[in-house]
Amino acid sequence: MPAYVVLGTQWGDEGKGRVVDLLAAHSDFVARYAGGDNAGHTIRVGDEVYKLHLVPSGVLHPGKRCAIGGGTVVNPLVLASELRELAERGIDISPERIMLAETAHIITPAHVALDKVNEAQRGDSAIGTTSRGIGPVYTDKAARTGLRAGLMRAPDLFIEKVKQHIEGKNRLLVDVYKTEPIDIDAALPDLHAAAAFLAPYLADVPLLLYQALQADKIVLCEGAQGTLLDIDHGIYPYVTSSSATVGGVITGLGIGPRYIERIIGVAKAFSTRVGGGPFPTELHDALGDRLRGTGANPWDEYGTTTGRPRRCGWLDTLVVRYAARINGLTELVITKLDVLSGFDALQVANSYTCNGAPVDTLPCELETHQDCQPIYQSIPGWQEDIMGVRSFSDLPSNAQSYVDYLEELTGLPVKTITVGPARAQTIER
Ligand code: GDP
Ligand code: IMO
Ligand code: MG
Repeated sequence: MPAYVVLGTQWGDEGKGRVVDLLAAHSDFVARYAGGDNAGHTIRVGDEVYKLHLVPSGVLHPGKRCAIGGGTVVNPLVLASELRELAERGIDISPERIMLAETAHIITPAHVALDKVNEAQRGDSAIGTTSRGIGPVYTDKAARTGLRAGLMRAPDLFIEKVKQHIEGKNRLLVDVYKTEPIDIDAALPDLHAAAAFLAPYLADVPLLLYQALQADKIVLCEGAQGTLLDIDHGIYPYVTSSSATVGGVITGLGIGPRYIERIIGVAKAFSTRVGGGPFPTELHDALGDRLRGTGANPWDEYGTTTGRPRRCGWLDTLVVRYAARINGLTELVITKLDVLSGFDALQVANSYTCNGAPVDTLPCELETHQDCQPIYQSIPGWQEDIMGVRSFSDLPSNAQSYVDYLEELTGLPVKTITVGPARAQTIER
């Protein structure tokens, strides 16, 4: 009856999608528990590359069931087009294998417009959101004024509710923000069509997951974003609006904590962040450019959802240790170790100086956090290309030492290391 969780230990884009894709081969159900199409999970299968935003990363394994939980927020236009694109590429998207929770909240064009004007108003302290309407939809959810996916069962009634909702938001857009309203007549037909398309996918996801767990099936819970973007545990307000951490699994999918057996933290071998907010180990020099890559490789650090260049820096184990503590991680997966080939020396921060004082646990309050300078430990690098390596003992000894050092600092076993985006580019220990 186990549930396994895969979540991000840093600022998102750790490679969760590809790790879920690996584990999905041995699971029965893959369920997304939080966030919306702000997520971008890239998975390579042979020569094919899939960029998933809402559909769980288990979809690429025939026969596996996939659920989008009630903790997520769903733009019907995005989900419908993502499913259609998958179908065009020969993936089975039948409602027998893909389910959408009736309780997931719906993102409308008004939420997207409000996200953009909110950001514009923040000026220099903009969060750098993905402009997908995430903040405004979770605001409506908490204010109990939101629209839930279950309404799409009756598309005509759904459209009536969406119309009223946009009329209300238009007053806000025009009267308060002095900006253009949403053109309701233009917006509604596509939303109606998307609702009609998605209606057969609506399901009681908590019940289905409970039945699967009772039947000893393995449920893999797929995280989006990362621990430092969590609404409660990230560095507020430079966060997303959902629970990216393990608590989001329980509320977002409606499964009890006693089912969770493994909590797998995905950590990139270095650090990246997209959007605003503090980032103590960020590199503003040629080393940072080198970690980012030029965009020539598909895995170079440019956002899957927005295409923005990601900010890059050295690994910060205060962040990974914080994620281990907040989520109760049972193990780590280290991704993109291959990207560290060719550096003479690698730096790892395991403590900071904050306001002149030494600190070895992550300060999570913005004012303190943004005054932290990393204290680095220098570790010898390796020159060899490791993308073809498949066993730990075949890694250069300095690469082995890097992984061993992370295990020692975090106190967590590193069971899987990835050395390239393909399924086979994986080292199991
Ligand atoms: P996610 O949001 O956590 O699923 O991560 P993203 O998909 O946004 O970003 C991870 C990127 O790194 C994608 O382009 C992956 O194909 C790529 N990737 C994942 N693992 C590895 C790896 O071990 N090595 C390399 N070079 N690329 C990887
Ligand atoms: P995956 O699942 C990286 C960031 C945005 C911004 C902040 C708030 O691919 O790891 P939002 O649109 O959520 O209101 O933006 O959160 N962000 C992500 N960064 N990976 C993601 O998802 C992200 N989802 C949101 O860049 O800084
Ligand atoms: Mg991503």
